[in-house]
Amino acid sequence: MTRSAVLAGIGSFLPPRCVPNAQLATQMDTSDEWIRMRTGIRQRYFAEPGTTTSDLAAEAGARAMKSAGLAEVDAVVLATTTPDRPCPATAPAVAAKLGLVGRPAYDVQAVCTGFVYALATACGLLAMSCVDTVLVIGAETFSTILNPADRTTSVIFGDGAGAMVLRATESDEAGQAPGNGTIGPFDLGSDGTGRDLITVRAGGAEQRRSCLTPAPGDEYFSMAGREVFRQAVERMARSAGAVLARAGWQAGDVDWLACHQANLRILLSLADALGIPENRVLANIAEVGNTSAASIPLALDQAHQAGRFKPGDRLLLSAFGGGLTWGSTVLTWPDLTHP
Ligand code: ACO
Repeated sequence: MTRSAVLAGIGSFLPPRCVPNAQLATQMDTSDEWIRMRTGIRQRYFAEPGTTTSDLAAEAGARAMKSAGLAEVDAVVLATTTPDRPCPATAPAVAAKLGLVGRPAYDVQAVCTGFVYALATACGLLAMSCVDTVLVIGAETFSTILNPADRTTSVIFGDGAGAMVLRATESDEAGQAPGNGTIGPFDLGSDGTGRDLITVRAGGAEQRRSCLTPAPGDEYFSMAGREVFRQAVERMARSAGAVLARAGWQAGDVDWLACHQANLRILLSLADALGIPENRVLANIAEVGNTSAASIPLALDQAHQAGRFKPGDRLLLSAFGGGLTWGSTVLTWPDLTHP
């Protein structure tokens, strides 16, 4: 028998402060129309000062554990670009907030691809019999690294968190699917030659070692939007195609394309490249913006809460982000009890 991972529970959390485009248009040279037309975003949520990534992560994590019917899990994996501190990792703090002191807890940093990478490492923990259950969280307070003087990034990102509980299941040696909720295989990749395209230049060892005072704005997130757009569609299309082939699925088998929510135009271009119809594209970017590592589990939980999935639905997950990094996997939707 071999062990693999199944989805056992899901949850998400958004901070209460909703910021519509019109509000941003009073603070910088932009408009509701530009933001909607170029990105598909209508609003996003920003955490209040004092609320950190671990707070959002713990809320989403608690909801996912409740959905799984579990008071405890064996490990916590957190994907985030906005850790509470550069050191230590944020996951142990999240585990402590959830009453899970003593359990292994670590961060995964792959920017917007972080959740897919975190899922892959969690599946590895389960497959190697290190643990029987893992809480995988994507959480961001991206508002803390946005440059208020940069309209090209400030209008895109939002804060939030999404989480999944995975549990181990046995399948036979022939690799027969163990049933609904199965996650994997995966396709993961990176290209560090593109690290300047999506970056926060200051605050790391590179800048500290150089003993240079950071240039103005270097402490904030920056992105070469147009080049990233092109690469996002190409890389995700290739990665998603690779994982479909590994899973033995055709594009026509996909009930939902559940990708990182970076830009509605990217989602539609990707669907077109893969030959998946628009009505199978999961999109919540209008309501929440780009929540980076949180975006896939947040979109999945909101769709689940709305009753959009039925057990057995086949989902294709794909993400692209800073690094550059990309990754894809497939998931067969389980029979989760509706909250
Ligand atoms: N309001 C009004 N005008 C704006 C704004 C704004 N907020 N932002 C840019 N503009 C202007 C630009 O100055 C430019 O004006 P110009 O033509 O006079 O020079 C014009 O709009 C077009 O700018 P572009 O950058 O070409 O706009 P584009 O259509 O490419 O949209 C965007 C920009 C939304 C950033 C898009 O490129 C994008 O979504 N890129 C990909 C994002 C992504 O996938 N990121 C990866 C994941 S994120 C992560 O890893 C953290």
